[in-house]
Amino acid sequence: MIRIVELVKRFGTQTILKGVSLQVATGEVCVLLGPSGSGKSTLLRTINGLETFDAGEIHVGDISLPASEGTARQNALLQIRRRVGMVFQQFELFPHRTVLQNITEAPMLVLKMPKEEAVQLAKQLLDRVGMLAKLDARPESLSGGQKQRVAIARTLAMKPDAILFDEPTSALDPHTTGEVIAVMQDLALDGQGMIVVTHGMQFARSVAHSVHILHSGRIIESGTPEKIFNAADQEITRRFLKET
Ligand SMILES: Nc1ncnc2c1ncn2[C@@H]1O[C@H](COP(=O)(O)OP(=O)(O)OP(=O)(O)O)[C@@H](O)[C@H]1O
Ligand SMILES: [Mg+2]
Repeated sequence: MIRIVELVKRFGTQTILKGVSLQVATGEVCVLLGPSGSGKSTLLRTINGLETFDAGEIHVGDISLPASEGTARQNALLQIRRRVGMVFQQFELFPHRTVLQNITEAPMLVLKMPKEEAVQLAKQLLDRVGMLAKLDARPESLSGGQKQRVAIARTLAMKPDAILFDEPTSALDPHTTGEVIAVMQDLALDGQGMIVVTHGMQFARSVAHSVHILHSGRIIESGTPEKIFNAADQEITRRFLKET
């Protein structure tokens, strides 16, 4: 579904991604781990087209993303953003809209879904993330965990093939973290493809199909959770996991 080949990303004179290759199959739950500054957010942002890149390839299904700005890239992004959603650490809900409106907006605008159908879908998704009761609330009145569950429902409304999660629980307290992880586990077990950057090792252990260790802009090791957590080949991986 997602295929990244030898991706290179620079900011100024600094090379942040130094040839990252990664493949994510349909329905695969892929967890990305690595120390702060290793390039995890940059990788997700580049896949979703929030950053241009300097070399390598990004393919989503049969769409190839051109590396630099231009019409071809804009056209590819329109298609890629329908297939790949993103959930951020800071939720990024529309503050002046209700919970329901936050979710119906994109399907109506981008997918041209009729309003009634979009509302129906939004209610179903809010129910799924345990937020149906807050349908008419404004984001500001919600807890962090509630906001994040709404943000997940908003992403799901586009029926993405894959969702990129960038530390979705790192701004949350332990209790609300649990609520959000439960929702993500439910989606994962239901076959939702995703790439997840998280410090939640329990999530990685329980539902990941593959775990990748990013270190200084390179994936130094990949494998099943059993392999990575119990018998990693790389000393750097073992040390990193011990420290987290
Ligand atoms: N827009 C930018 N301009 C310049 N440098 C950037 C930019 N975004 C990220 N960087 C640099 O790229 C490197 C990787 O950052 P990135 O945010 O991808 O790391 P990360 O692995 O997500 O870290 P964390 O775990 O702290 O979120 C860092 O050195 C960061 O300072
Ligand atoms: Mg980050």
